[in-house]
Amino acid sequence: MAIPQSFLDELKQRSDIESVVSGYVQLKRQGRTSKGLCPFHSEKTPSMVVYHENQSFYCFGCGAGGDVISFVMRIENLGYVEAVKFLAERAGMELPEEEREDPSLRIKPLIYEINRLTARFYHERLLSPEGEPGRAYFAGRQLTPKTITKYGLGYAPPGWDNLRNFLRSKGFTDEQMLQAAVVVRGKNNSCYDAFRNRVIFPIIDLRKNVIGFGGRVLDDSKPKYLNSSDTPVFKKSQNLFSLNFAKNLQDGRLILAEGYMDVIAVNQAGFENVVATLGTSLTAEQSRLMAQYAKEVIIAYDSDGAGRTATSRAVGLLEAVGIKTRILSMKGAKDPDEYIKTFGAQRFKLLLEDAGNVTEYQLSVLKAKYDLDTLDQRSAYANEAASYLATVPNAIERELYAGSVAQDTGLPLGTVLARINELRKKRERASRKKEWSEIEQGRIPGEAAGSPGARRTSAAAQAEEGIIAGLLRHPDEAASLQAQLSPEDFVTDEGRAVYGIILQKLQQNSSVSLTDLSGELTPEQMNLASRCLARQGEVSLTPRVLADYAAALREQKFREQLRTAPKTEEDAIRMAALLQSKKK
Ligand code: UTP
Ligand code: MN
Repeated sequence: MAIPQSFLDELKQRSDIESVVSGYVQLKRQGRTSKGLCPFHSEKTPSMVVYHENQSFYCFGCGAGGDVISFVMRIENLGYVEAVKFLAERAGMELPEEEREDPSLRIKPLIYEINRLTARFYHERLLSPEGEPGRAYFAGRQLTPKTITKYGLGYAPPGWDNLRNFLRSKGFTDEQMLQAAVVVRGKNNSCYDAFRNRVIFPIIDLRKNVIGFGGRVLDDSKPKYLNSSDTPVFKKSQNLFSLNFAKNLQDGRLILAEGYMDVIAVNQAGFENVVATLGTSLTAEQSRLMAQYAKEVIIAYDSDGAGRTATSRAVGLLEAVGIKTRILSMKGAKDPDEYIKTFGAQRFKLLLEDAGNVTEYQLSVLKAKYDLDTLDQRSAYANEAASYLATVPNAIERELYAGSVAQDTGLPLGTVLARINELRKKRERASRKKEWSEIEQGRIPGEAAGSPGARRTSAAAQAEEGIIAGLLRHPDEAASLQAQLSPEDFVTDEGRAVYGIILQKLQQNSSVSLTDLSGELTPEQMNLASRCLARQGEVSLTPRVLADYAAALREQKFREQLRTAPKTEEDAIRMAALLQSKKK
């Protein structure tokens, strides 16, 4: 996407990063930098720094970084060109003619408009005389008129082209309606309404745009729910139903339910902080999205088998992004909606307070699999519970739950604990083996390969950052640097790409501020570039420093070879020599 350099230069001039960022984050100025709470992960003490001098930001907590354009891309969830447009509007600048013609720029506002009109159309149908079946359905599910208004719920009457005719009368073409996925194309190439004879749940994003729809049948026919297919403004895997209400949560705690009706019932019962996925199982993207708002998530999935499987999966995904999980255990109802209907909001509140931790939940799931009245089932349960408890890191928790296993099975506590410890020793041996192989690969054990932590700590990654930092500060020395180190010498994909792109830009005599790079670097590469700029102190690449960096890169290359090639005596000697030279 070629936006003229002169336009970008002016945009840069007019979009001071501090003033843009402070529209979202409260910044505190400290000399040549400003500090604030990072909006890209949840934190209590500020670790995001804005550098006035080079117009960049970098978060020391989560590793997010970039220039003013990448900041807007992330926080507004926009593509590059859209972010440029966003900033241009803010700065009162006209986008060059050609760029305004970019189809992706024209289609999104159009889809938002179609969606908005569609939501209104369905809502009005619900309130009109022909909406009686929809109103009766919601009344049967005990939704109040207030809730119906709050969620903008609607009704799609039977018939193939109610919506299509309405949107046509507003001047939209079939092609545009197809792009918004509110109509679908039939076999004979004609278009018809995607939702017919269903109640409608509009899906609204954080900026209050309608991005898609869910629709439920009024009876027991199948499929029970339909969801809009993905469109340029709607990605099922990246959005959460009702996050527009839940995001204002006070206590850092979210409730995750399975579906639309659960969310609405829980919300109506007085708990705003509830969301659901949109007809798919939880994704890593949605977990990261939740981590921006919540420290703890209470999983309130259905109490059936499918719900339990989904719960275990969700626990893994959420804990991977640093969210603490608790699990709601419902007796006498299959889902939160039914629970609230049967026992009321007060009891549901108690249930929330009572939600147990994962260990308690996993044990109760295991226990339910066995008939503890028979000896062999008791022994099977004890064994399975012990292997599970061996994975629990906290000793107190382990012993506590070992006690409950002992009680349930009639075994002495000592026997259960002995089995757990035996299994722990086995696991420890396996994990030591893994640690050693990670050390061989030049990683810090326990750090995931791609994590910011792994990058920060590996010597080779450090060297790459040092080299890129030096190059960014002293671009005039690019030619002599390139003669000594080519991108192929780099060991991480990101480092190699960033170094290569900067060199290439310099060869074309363009400047290499972050904004000049932001059109060409991926978000991860942008993080790396801004981390390099965030380095403290002098970053001159003296011959000595450069030699050290080059040695670190060679060592890592060699380690990687060792990992793939058979280990010979010669290799061992080279490795020893390398390690020796490093000690000096
Ligand atoms: P459930 O089948 O558990 O329905 O689907 P529910 O939430 O209890 O719905 P009610 O109470 O019968 O109205 C949970 C979620 O799974 C997705 C929807 O997002 C739904 O909210 N789903 C379910 C589909 O996408 N398609 C289906 O056919 C069924
Ligand atoms: Mn239900």
